[in-house]
Amino acid sequence: MTPPTVTPHYPATTPVAPHGAPEAKAEVKTAEKTNPNPPAPAKAPKGPDWWLMMKAFLTQGKRIASFAPSSRFMARKIIDGIDWATAKNIVELGAGTGPITAEMVKRARPETKIVVIELDPVLCGRLQDRFRGTPNVEVILGDATKFGELLLARGIPKVDHVLSGLPLPSFPAAARDAVLETAAKTIAEGGTFRQLTVMPLIYYKLYRRYFESVRFRFVPFNLPPGGVYVCRGYRGLPTK
Ligand SMILES: C[S@@+](CC[C@H](N)C(=O)[O-])C[C@H]1O[C@@H](n2cnc3c(N)ncnc32)[C@H](O)[C@@H]1O
Repeated sequence: MTPPTVTPHYPATTPVAPHGAPEAKAEVKTAEKTNPNPPAPAKAPKGPDWWLMMKAFLTQGKRIASFAPSSRFMARKIIDGIDWATAKNIVELGAGTGPITAEMVKRARPETKIVVIELDPVLCGRLQDRFRGTPNVEVILGDATKFGELLLARGIPKVDHVLSGLPLPSFPAAARDAVLETAAKTIAEGGTFRQLTVMPLIYYKLYRRYFESVRFRFVPFNLPPGGVYVCRGYRGLPTK
């Protein structure tokens, strides 16, 4: 049986903190409505990846956060150091058109399960089309703030690493906390939370509020230049 897909935890119209102002407290709607008819992923959307990302960015802005897919340099940097000989499960949140997924697929053993979660139906349609013939990749149209439940529904209580392309600094604080708290509970001993950014080092302090150790890897060859935070040792939710 196919596990259920979920609808966004917060409506697309929920106000979010302005980019660059992570401390601003955006209102999170507590009385969330569940859409009984979640959108299906768009069937094999047409056009190159950069065009799908650009369109998504122009129509959805902060929920996409980047106007271009990550470069292969960014994709390689975020997976650098993963021990593919031992990795059993990896989850990728906010996969866009799949540049990072594609780099993982090149390295992962067939036994390593890669679960990919994307909220946007068009981008998810591209992912499903792109990885249809790759048995160890499962693409889910869903909300990454619920990724713990999505993994459990597939019998995956722990993952080796969580890779995130989510625009976490723009998320309402409660949604960001949900992602990072779930990551802390889900990552196996010795694993990491890895977050990409196109605003190098700007959010270092934000991630340090959640994690004991945060390393930043700069990626100049990306449009725009960016980098990756590699985080270990969850400290608990930051005090408000
Ligand atoms: C900056 S893009 C990164 C795309 C891709 N990882 C890459 O490197 O090119 C952010 C992605 O997160 C997705 N996203 C935003 N909020 C999400 C959520 N709550 N759950 C799942 N995906 C989400 C967006 O639709 C978008 O594809």
